[in-house]
Amino acid sequence: MPDPMPLRGGLEFSTRYAASTDAAPAFVEGEVFGTDYGANGYTTVDDADDLIARLDIGPADRLLDLGAGCGWPGLYMADRTGCRLVSFDLPEEGLQRAQLRGRLDEVVGFEGAVRGDGRALPFRRQSFTTAVHADVLC
Ligand SMILES: C[S@@+](CC[C@H](N)C(=O)[O-])C[C@H]1O[C@@H](n2cnc3c(N)ncnc32)[C@H](O)[C@@H]1O
Repeated sequence: MPDPMPLRGGLEFSTRYAASTDAAPAFVEGEVFGTDYGANGYTTVDDADDLIARLDIGPADRLLDLGAGCGWPGLYMADRTGCRLVSFDLPEEGLQRAQLRGRLDEVVGFEGAVRGDGRALPFRRQSFTTAVHADVLC
């Protein structure tokens, strides 16, 4: 029986994330989305600010960024609000970039980039107060 929800996030995204620091995609991302995280969707800085406002998150919160890619938008949200953060995705290339960016930006609440399948989250219930998934259910 075919998988009703075939997984994306394999080679297609790995290749994208491995090239995310190349000059051309970085330039386009900056011009179109106003970001430099290696974003791989349609979430702009204004959208991320809107998420922050709607979720009303702060240092008391622990955010799960599901399908985080290279860390966008979770790292930005944690940087702005002081919330704790776990970035979660499948492709190793994106997770490595998220891990590096979190460290370079000294995002205090960043707990790390974790690899796994969002269809079977490897976290205890109620581990997070909030979750975002930017351009994942597409
Ligand atoms: C379009 S990208 C968006 C990435 C990032 N949120 C951004 O805006 O740059 C969708 C991401 O969802 C991830 N994804 C899709 N299905 C997933 C699953 N079952 N578990 C974890 N991540 C998944 C993909 O690997 C991919 O990195």
